[in-house]
Amino acid sequence: MCGIVGYIGDLQAKSIVLKGLKQLEYRGYDSAGIALMQEDTLQHTIFKDIGRVSHLASLVDSVSDARLGIGHTRWATHGPVTQANAHPHQSRNGRFLVVHNGVIENYKQLIKDYLNDEVLKSQTDSEVIVNLIALFAKTNPVPIAILKTLNLLEGSYALLILDQDNPTVLYGAKHKSPLLLGKCPKGHILASDMLAMCEEATHFYAIPDQTLLTLSEQHVDLSNLEGESLTLTYEHLEMDALQCDLGNHPHYMLKEIYEQPTVIRRIVEKYYEESLLSDEFIQKIKAAERLYILAAGTSLNAGYIGKVLIERLANIPVEVHIASEFAYHPPLLVKKPVFIMISQSGETADLRACLINIKKLGFPIFTITNVKTSTLAREADDFLEIFAGPEIAVASTKAYTAQIAVLAILSEALGHHYDMRSKLAQVAQSMDYFLSQASHVQNLVKMLLTKRNAFYIGRGLDYFVCLEAALKLKEISYIQTEGFAAGELKHGTIALIEKDTPVIAIISSLSIAANTESNLQEVKARGAKALVIATDDLNLSDVDIVLNHVDALLTPMVTVLPAQMIAYYAAHMLGYDIDKPRNLAKSVTVE
Ligand code: M6R
Repeated sequence: MCGIVGYIGDLQAKSIVLKGLKQLEYRGYDSAGIALMQEDTLQHTIFKDIGRVSHLASLVDSVSDARLGIGHTRWATHGPVTQANAHPHQSRNGRFLVVHNGVIENYKQLIKDYLNDEVLKSQTDSEVIVNLIALFAKTNPVPIAILKTLNLLEGSYALLILDQDNPTVLYGAKHKSPLLLGKCPKGHILASDMLAMCEEATHFYAIPDQTLLTLSEQHVDLSNLEGESLTLTYEHLEMDALQCDLGNHPHYMLKEIYEQPTVIRRIVEKYYEESLLSDEFIQKIKAAERLYILAAGTSLNAGYIGKVLIERLANIPVEVHIASEFAYHPPLLVKKPVFIMISQSGETADLRACLINIKKLGFPIFTITNVKTSTLAREADDFLEIFAGPEIAVASTKAYTAQIAVLAILSEALGHHYDMRSKLAQVAQSMDYFLSQASHVQNLVKMLLTKRNAFYIGRGLDYFVCLEAALKLKEISYIQTEGFAAGELKHGTIALIEKDTPVIAIISSLSIAANTESNLQEVKARGAKALVIATDDLNLSDVDIVLNHVDALLTPMVTVLPAQMIAYYAAHMLGYDIDKPRNLAKSVTVE
């Protein structure tokens, strides 16, 4: 959701910024822009348009040798998808240029108080920022003008600012929206995430909130919003550009689906060989009267599985809440709660809103995340990493199974020995087996799905997998899909079943197999086209996708794989942009 990249140094800014924007495409966007500053002529050039970064690249002059540039991918919030609303935005006097990720909540008031609204060329909240800077710069040095502006802003921002009168400086500022500083052998990069800098930078710094940065090729000055200097401590950047490479796969989603067995093995190795769960950490959680899992989307669906794992293995009650609901409608809490935030990106704004509230109450929070430098990892008391490697496709796949694996290891550590290590190894094997012959799912998809609608049904853990399966199918194929508790269908929703409605049943446990099968008969009797995904230990007849069985509590890690493939092939069949589905962003940094 909006990505920003800026570079200052001795290399060609154009190629570094465009490459960075390309790497940020996965975050989701609808328009893109770049501004390049020519040091010798004090001239800047702006290119921006709706559409892809490849289109933007085709607009940028091939000759630009500028050493300073800023770029942006916009995911529309304020104002529709138009060229005028795309970033960079320029001040009315032409002196300053800004790219912005975040939301300025009081922008209308700021226009009223400080700016004549006739001057604004876009409908964005961001354009206010650049005009405020220009206004204050009339009577103040630029850093003071920026600080004055930042102190007026309510909401969230990661900002890059160019001053045409000073082409040797790049300004950056951060509050609540992600922004990292990268140190390169020849210059500095500011970007929304590491992927945009992993080819150039050797070290990074996770910029704290309420910080202003003043960068030149050699130097970085940091200050807080009162103008007091801050110290900078770099960390080594471990990410390898190859991790983001598509390899032989046509899409990131497929690549990431196929990476799952490797990710599970990596998690097992990390957690068991390196003893990542300290006694102190486990004791802190064990002291809880109740655990509260907060998450959104796929991470929420992993949270439901986590609840079952923790309650069964550790005997601690767990509630699972949708983050955006919890933030404003929290339930009655027990006296000694511990909060678990699950977030692949670690940047989800709905979760951050929860985190701020919970911190005020003084309760312990830890995050389960794929990005150890993320806001939620840094701001929680502790975090557990899922080691899935960069997840680029908007549709989350490997993060889901990795989150469940970490929750399973945690559950064992909180409870009793369960031989989780070898049970997870068996999961990886079962995943390998399915993936080795998964291409036949393509034919099943062609026979079963139409554009209209679909249902996933299941009971118990299978029901929670149905929620994730339905989310996957709808978000990339745009087929309206519901994940349903099989037994609940007959209480209303069965009215939607008609001739050829696709219904996919997930069955992984003997105790519920007969019931789910009879629910399937009920829908078939009303004309539904059925497809059954089941594990081999059940010995059911009429199964379309048979999976090697695994431990009863870990079945979601295996039964979700066919659902991921069904979604992938459905989007493929319908000709959609699989890795970048419409309207969606990878990390959702607005509430
Ligand atoms: O980064 P997070 O795990 O916090 O993201 C939460 C959701 O936005 C995310 O899981 C979303 O639902 C996925 N696109 C689903 O595939």
